[in-house]
Amino acid sequence: MSHMPIRPPASPAPSSMASETDDTTVRATWGSRLGFVLAAAGSAVGLGAVWKFPYVVGAHGGGAFLMIYLACVLTLGVALLLAEMTIGRLTGKSMTTALRALGGRRWAWVGRIATFNAFAILSFYVVVGGWTVAYLWRAVTGGILANDTDRLVGEFSAFISDPAASLGSMGAFLGLTAVVVAAGVQKGIERAGKWLMPAFFLLMLLVIARALTLPGAMAGVAWFLTPDFSAISGGTLIEALGLAFFSLSLGAGMIVAYGSYLPSDARLVGSAVWVATLATLACCLAGLMILPAVFAFGVAPDAGPGLTFITMPAIFAQMPFGHLVAIAFFLLLLFAALTSAVSLFEPVTAFLIDEYHWHRRSAVTAVLGATLVFGAPAALSFGVWSDIRIFGRTIFGLMDYVTVNLLMPAGGLCVAYFVGACIWPTARSVLDGSRSQWFAPLWRLLLLALTPVAIVGVWYQGL
Ligand code: TRP
Repeated sequence: MSHMPIRPPASPAPSSMASETDDTTVRATWGSRLGFVLAAAGSAVGLGAVWKFPYVVGAHGGGAFLMIYLACVLTLGVALLLAEMTIGRLTGKSMTTALRALGGRRWAWVGRIATFNAFAILSFYVVVGGWTVAYLWRAVTGGILANDTDRLVGEFSAFISDPAASLGSMGAFLGLTAVVVAAGVQKGIERAGKWLMPAFFLLMLLVIARALTLPGAMAGVAWFLTPDFSAISGGTLIEALGLAFFSLSLGAGMIVAYGSYLPSDARLVGSAVWVATLATLACCLAGLMILPAVFAFGVAPDAGPGLTFITMPAIFAQMPFGHLVAIAFFLLLLFAALTSAVSLFEPVTAFLIDEYHWHRRSAVTAVLGATLVFGAPAALSFGVWSDIRIFGRTIFGLMDYVTVNLLMPAGGLCVAYFVGACIWPTARSVLDGSRSQWFAPLWRLLLLALTPVAIVGVWYQGL
């Protein structure tokens, strides 16, 4: 049952920015296809690549994990990116409103849960975002570089367990995110992504060049690239699948929200492939930057969530102008993390605006406050609350595991079924007239066969 008109595929796209605070105005669109790809890739490329990917690969045995991760991205990753873009593009609405418009009231629940998931991810994401702020600050004020990894481990632990430092930096990061979201779609997100992401990739290449020439680094490269399938367990599969979702920003309504700003003539398949490529490239670059250095400096690859923050300063200490490189690196990482955090913040804000007709400003304030409340326990669980264990995990660990490894794939499963079965003729029409029409049957196969089999199979193995 449809409560709202669905945008016809051929309607002319509004090209100018308009306010999104009420439904009567024309919804803004991206200035160009490149704008959308870069914004979506800006969402995808963030702490997931630079912080999460290296330590998860490190904890799960290297090359084999990488292969499974890549297989997930290339198959269900691309199919689901396209599915979420289609939902957004067809309705011009954020997840909940869009699902209700296309599929009726019951489907709105999937949207609500996905939106809640985006919020839950944001709540722990800002903790790590805060670490980035703090390390940038330390890079600027000096004293970050050190060859001695024991000292770096000690400094990292001291910082994350200090309540004032971790809460303060988390608040700073969250505040920055809220400011960007309050400023609006195109201005805030698109402009930043266009220049900073390429700059970040270039800087990573520079750091990789140094990391690879460290004595002993090649052992890390071999470990990262050579699959050893005996290291694979059910738990590994769950982590690889979750990481694929996380690094592509899938399963939480984010791509739907960005896709809702797509003009009707956008070429979706190409955009999906581009976003997936850039996101995976960022992960691989981060892996090549951190893991060789981990081996060269004798850090344990399974050192956990601090791996990147412990290893990077040691690499910078080995570089000419290391101090400046450190500042540039943490600055660009901060921007990358911000564009991702914005993309978690935005769907939640858009939910309040589209569903309840809130003004953007009140919606932003509400999300900001709620994230502070939920993020604080996650931050404290590295220090004063580290003894609190739920199912054997810290508060942070539990939020991470449930949202990334369970709720995101669950969201993906629903979206796959929704697009592949419930609205297939409409969804398919999005590819009409485009060069990618051949992709439609393959897309449906991925959505209806591979995605459920992979997700349910991985859960069965892993849980
Ligand atoms: N992909 C981002 C990263 O790797 C995190 C992220 C941003 C995200 N938006 C999302 C994850 C939406 C899931 C859903 O840093």
